[in-house]
Amino acid sequence: MRVSTTSVLTAGAFATLASAGENYLGFNSGATKTDNSAKFKADFLAEFNTAQNLKGAPGKFDAVRLYTNIQAYSTSDPIQAFDAAVETKTKILLGLWTSGTDSIDNEMAALKSGLQKFGKDLSDLIIGVSIGSEDLYRVSVTGLKNDPTGVGAGPDVITKFIKEFKSEFADSDIASVPIGHVDTWDAWTNGTNKAVIDAVDWIGVDEYPYYEDGKDNTIKNSGTLFDAAYDATIAAAGGKPVWVTETGYPYTGSWLPPSL
Ligand SMILES: *[C@@H]1O[C@H](CO)[C@@H](O)[C@H](O)[C@H]1NC(C)=O
Repeated sequence: MRVSTTSVLTAGAFATLASAGENYLGFNSGATKTDNSAKFKADFLAEFNTAQNLKGAPGKFDAVRLYTNIQAYSTSDPIQAFDAAVETKTKILLGLWTSGTDSIDNEMAALKSGLQKFGKDLSDLIIGVSIGSEDLYRVSVTGLKNDPTGVGAGPDVITKFIKEFKSEFADSDIASVPIGHVDTWDAWTNGTNKAVIDAVDWIGVDEYPYYEDGKDNTIKNSGTLFDAAYDATIAAAGGKPVWVTETGYPYTGSWLPPSL
């Protein structure tokens, strides 16, 4: 998948069925705009209000998935999405960026500052935490073929960060929030990554049939490809809950398939 925090991801939606049976609908939101400038509170507010008021939506899109806790271009200031989420009561699937680094200290410091600033108003909105995003994909055969310069992380790095996060927040207001990792479906079916499945409470899967260009990925067949990838992830998950963390289909731009 050729996705970055500034392009397709910002448009992708997610839907999850958490173990308690609650269904979350939301959008993914990167820390920057498409021109790479930082998003501020007003930008996140505009996104969250738009999402919650979508006309004809199949449900209420009142959740957001973030990729980082850090405000863009700062070292460890809490992302201003927190301010906007508290104001609009938007549920949050937190994300920590874990590629190209050997430390999540700044991520954890930013989250702690946010929790200190907002207390329960923020912690009550947090529905999950993802340690990383598509890191395993970026070091996979397909990931490196699509982007040889892509920076990812292997299962040893991700599991180390999961342990670190769990111990750091063990006595916090979010101690019981389930911890997961988000990756592409073929990262989950890759046996070398099994240690990550063992380490998490839930599995996040990003599914874009559009990118499966080795298959019949016309839009008519995309539901079939989606289900096949979902079922393969469930089969690999060993009974752990699977959250669909990204999906979507482009409607414009240079990535439009000839088949559309
Ligand atoms: C399987 O996962 C490992 C570790 O993440 C990775 O190095 C390897 O390239 C993956 N295999 C394929 C076929 O992508």
